[in-house]
Amino acid sequence: MIEQSLLIIKPNAVIHHHIGHIISMVEEAGFKIKYIQTIQFTPELASVFYEMHKGKSFYDQLVNFMCSAPCVGIIVEKNNAIEGLRDLIGDVNPEERKAGTIRDFYAESITENAVHASDSKESAEREIAILFPQYLL
Ligand code: CMP
Repeated sequence: MIEQSLLIIKPNAVIHHHIGHIISMVEEAGFKIKYIQTIQFTPELASVFYEMHKGKSFYDQLVNFMCSAPCVGIIVEKNNAIEGLRDLIGDVNPEERKAGTIRDFYAESITENAVHASDSKESAEREIAILFPQYLL
């Protein structure tokens, strides 16, 4: 089934000039870029986006990191895009992460992990509506 998902290139990957390679990896994996825009997270926006992580030990660190520099938000489309993009970015846990994934190349820690991808159709719709309310799915 053709699906859309959201990829965020996070501050550490932006600062270290990895936007181009990450987008190339996404295109080479067969995803179509539907929409792309830089985003400067504020604490308010990050608290809405990461609401489900409020109260967790890493929450404040995550919000501070996401607000520390611009991100790039990208809406992608492909057959089974949600699962495919999660496979391409690699696991959040370095021990579970496969070689050749985006996080394998560019994650510096569990928090500074270079990219985010929606984990379900519901998450993709929710996240796109929060970051890009002007985009019509
Ligand atoms: P992301 O895919 O954006 O979803 C939630 C984020 O929280 C995750 O990537 C990491 O950046 C961060 N995260 C998840 N688990 C941990 C953890 N155990 N310690 C620190 N940060 C975490």
